[in-house]
Amino acid sequence: MSNDNLSATISALLEEKRHFDPPKDFQDKALVNDQSLYDLAAKDRLAFWEKMAEGLDWFQKWDKTLEWNPPFAKWFTGGKLNASYNCLDRHIKNGLRNKAAIIWEGEPGEQRTLTYWDMYREVNKFANCLKKLGVKKGDRVTFYMPMIPELAIGVLACARIGAPHSVVFGGFSPDALKDRIHDADSKVLITADGGYRRGNLLPLKHDADIALRECPGVETVIIVKRGDFPLHVKEGRDHWYHRLMQQAEPYCEPEPMDSEDLLYLLYTSGTTGKPKGIMHTTGGYMTGVLATTKYVFDMKPEDVFWCTADIGWVTGHSYIVYGPMANGATQIMYEGAPDWPDRDRFWEIVEKYGVSLFYTAPTAIRAFMKWGDQWPQKHDLSTLRLLGSVGEPINPEAWMWYHQVIGGGRCPIVDTWWQTETGAIMITPLPGVTSTTPGSATTPFPGVSADIFDEQGESVPVGGGYLVLKEPWPSMLRGIWGDPERFKEQYWNKYENIYFAGDGAKRDEDGYFWVLGRVDDVINVSGHRISTMEVESALVDHPSVAESAVIGINHELKGQAVAAFVTIKDGYEMGGALEKTLKDHVTQKIGPIAKPEKIIFSADLPKTRSGKIMRRLLRDIAEGRALGDTTTLADASVVQRLQRRYEEEVGA
Ligand code: WT7
Repeated sequence: MSNDNLSATISALLEEKRHFDPPKDFQDKALVNDQSLYDLAAKDRLAFWEKMAEGLDWFQKWDKTLEWNPPFAKWFTGGKLNASYNCLDRHIKNGLRNKAAIIWEGEPGEQRTLTYWDMYREVNKFANCLKKLGVKKGDRVTFYMPMIPELAIGVLACARIGAPHSVVFGGFSPDALKDRIHDADSKVLITADGGYRRGNLLPLKHDADIALRECPGVETVIIVKRGDFPLHVKEGRDHWYHRLMQQAEPYCEPEPMDSEDLLYLLYTSGTTGKPKGIMHTTGGYMTGVLATTKYVFDMKPEDVFWCTADIGWVTGHSYIVYGPMANGATQIMYEGAPDWPDRDRFWEIVEKYGVSLFYTAPTAIRAFMKWGDQWPQKHDLSTLRLLGSVGEPINPEAWMWYHQVIGGGRCPIVDTWWQTETGAIMITPLPGVTSTTPGSATTPFPGVSADIFDEQGESVPVGGGYLVLKEPWPSMLRGIWGDPERFKEQYWNKYENIYFAGDGAKRDEDGYFWVLGRVDDVINVSGHRISTMEVESALVDHPSVAESAVIGINHELKGQAVAAFVTIKDGYEMGGALEKTLKDHVTQKIGPIAKPEKIIFSADLPKTRSGKIMRRLLRDIAEGRALGDTTTLADASVVQRLQRRYEEEVGA
């Protein structure tokens, strides 16, 4: 977000004064309804996190809570545990054997319920299949799957044997999958014949095969049969999941992992063209997701939790797989789109299964709002008792609509700020304690030392600045896979030994945080991170493109959308046909989420005398603002021509 934009947002938000106290009956029954957790953490941060870690089952207790050699942290060293044991075995032993773990609904309407015992059996068997195929502790296993229970089973099976997983969102293109397989150097890929989305088939195995042509290192592919989708099976390399499972032994000893052993890699976009493999380890990560799931969602044994994210994103890792399952929760998993076959699919699911805790993204809420109140009103949503939001700032109008129309005015809303890198929720209300204000994620979770710094690294008591985390926290990323230098440079360079999140934020008089959006070259499309550089490299990869500059523009539903300014080579013709070709090209290189909303052709791009593209001016043009400082521009006429072109094309 540009600075002008930031200050406009700040002043608009300053006017937001509505407060919603926790409803009395909610508060009375809440797991936390006083300051005790905050007090404990304020008094002794490490003691607080130790207490949270005690909520896990450890094979061997840790010796040291924290070893901090900035920017490298180690938590609970000497401790040994297994994430799958914590999500399964301990519940089986504690009377939850027959409790529903995952109630799954396929987009076409099938329903499957897997109890903790079922999950335990499947995970054990699949862990044995992986072992039999030669997967060992430390080997990276890539997943490219639809939202089916086998994805959760597969991930937990990897955790059981100590093989870090790398889940690639099923909506990514073969090219994106290939890059991630290469970077992680995976020898095993787990995929499915396909999945359903809006009534269409996602031909995952077919797409995986395209990626695999350039992944000679992949020796084993396991295919889950989701439907009856046509596919090619390569003898020797490809195996059907159900065939393997038929012969699998029922029990697999969980690998005792060191607290700091790698649990998984998850790729996310940064400021360069190359996605980064964020590393999460075992003890600290499990502590963070266990504690936040329980206290942020006020999760009780009788709750039915539904996080609508895909397991391909961190939200699904932390709040479908590890957090809820470590807490022994019953949860809903849904495969498909919210508007299939109709726009009330989510509300139908809430009613059908009696969902009580519902966690979704602002982009979805804005779409529901636009579709109209009649869709939720067709259903009985009275089982809901808490609502959550994640992925981007929620605009106060959407917050109010969510509160009234979905929550019936009785459900607290937890607006949770966090990142792939933070592993778990960092800034959030505690629903039985915090008075909420639409648009603000309120205050840091106990034990999290968030602050707002100015350019010089001074804390800003009231006002805007950069969002930082001053002390290490258990679920923090441990690095970027294969690139420790980039890890230091990306997060620890702006301020000494302080984590810089890449977001702008402001703090109001009540000490509440208002996260405003990214301040780097990352845009947030529908709650998903896209790097402008990644889209630029996809564009210049096309033979017609000479140069491109990508920016984020405001979008009613998506929050932000991708706009690309493009100069083309001689011999190509600008216009609708090329625009479509280029949009398709980006979709093919990265995936539909990165597809530009607009492509603006132009003879030149505004540059400094040293040749750096001035994206700030492009944002001014795209948002129809007066141009900021143009004195460093090499050729001032370029922006005027561009402004005219933009108006012609977009009607800005
Ligand atoms: C970026 C992280 C965390 C899971 C989903 C996205 C933005 C996230 C909020 C929120 C304002 C938010 C930030 C952050 N963001 N939640 N509640 N309010 N902004 O994970 O892809 O790692 O993206 O999403 O800009 O840096 P991610």
